[in-house]
Amino acid sequence: MTEQNPLAEGAESDRRAPPCVLVVFGASGDLTTRKLMPALAELADGRRLPAAFCVVGVARTEMADEDFQARMLADMDKPSAAWESLVSGFRYVAGDYSHPDTFAALKRVLAEVHAARGTGGNVVYYLATPPQVFGEVAAALAAEGMSKPEDDGSFVRIVIEKPYGRDLGSARELDAQMHASFDESQIYRIDHYLGKETVQNVLALRFANAIFEPIWNRRYVDHVQITVAESLGVGHRGSFYEGAGALRDIVQNHVLQVLALTLMEPPATIDAQGIRDEKVKALRAVDILSVDEVGNEVVRGQYDRGWVEGGEVPAYREEEGVAADSRTETYMAMRMQVDNWRWAGVPFYVRTGKRLPKRYTEVAMEFHDVPHLPFGRKDTRGLGPNALVLRIQPDEGITLRFGAKVPGQAFRVRSTSMDFSYGAAFMEETPEAYERLLLDAMVGDPTLFIRTDEVEQAWRIVDPILEAFADPSFPVAHYQAGTWGPREADRLLDRDGRRWRSP
Ligand SMILES: NC(=O)c1ccc[n+]([C@@H]2O[C@H](COP(=O)([O-])OP(=O)(O)OC[C@H]3O[C@@H](n4cnc5c(N)ncnc54)[C@H](OP(=O)(O)O)[C@@H]3O)[C@@H](O)[C@H]2O)c1
Repeated sequence: MTEQNPLAEGAESDRRAPPCVLVVFGASGDLTTRKLMPALAELADGRRLPAAFCVVGVARTEMADEDFQARMLADMDKPSAAWESLVSGFRYVAGDYSHPDTFAALKRVLAEVHAARGTGGNVVYYLATPPQVFGEVAAALAAEGMSKPEDDGSFVRIVIEKPYGRDLGSARELDAQMHASFDESQIYRIDHYLGKETVQNVLALRFANAIFEPIWNRRYVDHVQITVAESLGVGHRGSFYEGAGALRDIVQNHVLQVLALTLMEPPATIDAQGIRDEKVKALRAVDILSVDEVGNEVVRGQYDRGWVEGGEVPAYREEEGVAADSRTETYMAMRMQVDNWRWAGVPFYVRTGKRLPKRYTEVAMEFHDVPHLPFGRKDTRGLGPNALVLRIQPDEGITLRFGAKVPGQAFRVRSTSMDFSYGAAFMEETPEAYERLLLDAMVGDPTLFIRTDEVEQAWRIVDPILEAFADPSFPVAHYQAGTWGPREADRLLDRDGRRWRSP
């Protein structure tokens, strides 16, 4: 199959999925109803799905086709006619993944669907199950001869949800299991952050403009701050979160992906290989801490009771499914260094946390001061460093902060900003991340999916931190819910003479 390049000019209007079947494992779960089905409904409404398209749900819950269809309709707020019509063709297979019968039944259903719907043997498997069964499902598909396409130009792909492993060792193990059944070119490891418009816009901003790239380096950039803040706590996912923590849940994937796009060199071409080669090169340049250095560069935090968005919230240790003496981090901050010509000596400060004052994600680049400020101290009291802020969510856009004269007789200079807002600048609707990525997987474009070497490199960066955290004497700094994190995180920047931005 030829690959379409979704980032290329002109590809937008004719981007449609080819005839295919989407097989969703874990079809009774939260991700399926909250993300995948709404994304498919948007694609259906936008006429991006062909007539020859079908969903086959697979899960252990007993359901007939009609029950599954009813569920996929009931979970949608206002189902459109296009969605109702699509859902009426959905099929469902109930069964345990450890049982070959499940896959034999799936094979029969797929054969029926291909024959009845003209989907041409094209299949995209989506693993929306808990990660412990990823390898098992892949192996069972291979055992039934369902992991490779026929020799007739059809395709078989597999989309894998995060988390991709728990550390470097388990990620490699999972890779070995996946590669035993599928070629790397068939594997689409999803990180929904890469489906966000503003994350992709980092590429446009950097590589389609002459004015940013010349200053995108150590000569002009003083430091970079990446913030991924959530106001929510762990909700009902306490027991899941206990085994994850902010490092695995956010930093290893979303933060390092955004970091890679910020750090990378310009690729020769904006295609899957060009972009992923440069991203992995960038991640390889990130300085890997030794376990002994972690205490000095990383702050691990956990929220106590507090107030968020006007409501009183419990401490993490009081949440359902969380141990009363849990040491799992709901917050972490770290200082990273990048060892290459572009970034040597520029600190990258990263922080992420739950129960912070608001949901907010940004990459902020602060620039060096001018070499000489020809104004009096008093006249520049309101002047901060120049900053370029990529706002990833919510209110997606870009802010450029600079100094301007305050109107009046005196020559006072104060910081002000130019704002670009996605919502206001374009009439086009921004597709949801899952909508974008599902279509990419069906079209066969892996650009915004993570390649095996990227996953490995991300775990190499994270592994020493995990090892340090595993030591019971590693401090857990507590912070009140509704604040911007523990004081220890402020000290991480204080000692460098810098401060966290206040979003
Ligand atoms: N939910 C999200 O927002 C989100 C976001 C990012 C990534 N993810 C990832 O997406 C995947 C699915 O997440 P989810 O929230 O939808 O999970 P979930 O609701 O807990 O599980 C999905 C389905 O998997 C089945 N299942 C549960 N335990 C199983 C087991 N031990 N063996 C086999 N099947 C089992 C259940 O269906 P049956 O009992 O009917 O088989 C369940 O409905 C996970 O890998 C998760 O990390 C989720």
